[in-house]
Amino acid sequence: MMDIEITLCVDGSEHRLTVDTRTTLLDALRERLGITSAKKGCDHGQCGACTVLLDGRRAVSCLALAVAYDKADIVTANGLSNGKLHPVQQAFIKHDAFQCGYCTPGQIVSAVGMLQEAASGWPSVVSRDISSDEFTLDDAEIGERMSGNLCRCAAYANIVPAIAEVTE
Ligand code: FES
Ligand code: FES
Repeated sequence: MMDIEITLCVDGSEHRLTVDTRTTLLDALRERLGITSAKKGCDHGQCGACTVLLDGRRAVSCLALAVAYDKADIVTANGLSNGKLHPVQQAFIKHDAFQCGYCTPGQIVSAVGMLQEAASGWPSVVSRDISSDEFTLDDAEIGERMSGNLCRCAAYANIVPAIAEVTE
């Protein structure tokens, strides 16, 4: 066991803390900093409830070690709103894209990351033309690109249209 001092930059605020090197980023956020936007669903990298943006790329924070993200730019669903809700957040409300809401922060962060990936020309496994750098985010593309985020309430019927609206 070894402790190390790190700085976590979360949603625009810096937090200095000492962590056991085995501490996951999710536990550091929730248990050490009291930032509970990222949820602990499975704690095994399977549900996506803990998704955050790490230097702009989505990642499951339950499989990330906090020490590996010293001074990285970490964004949770809380950090997406800047005085007013992010368009993806607004779309989730408009489409009633949640039931219990437990998966929702991870879904929203993942959707924001996914939209950036598509805009950057990253294909998915269902993309018809991987040589293109423009993708039509139809339901199949949205479903595939969001497949790392599970919803126990099965609110997908509203989650997909919510994300689709932001792509229009
Ligand atoms: S809690 Fe991290 S993927 Fe489920
Ligand atoms: S809204 Fe309940 S888990 Fe997704």
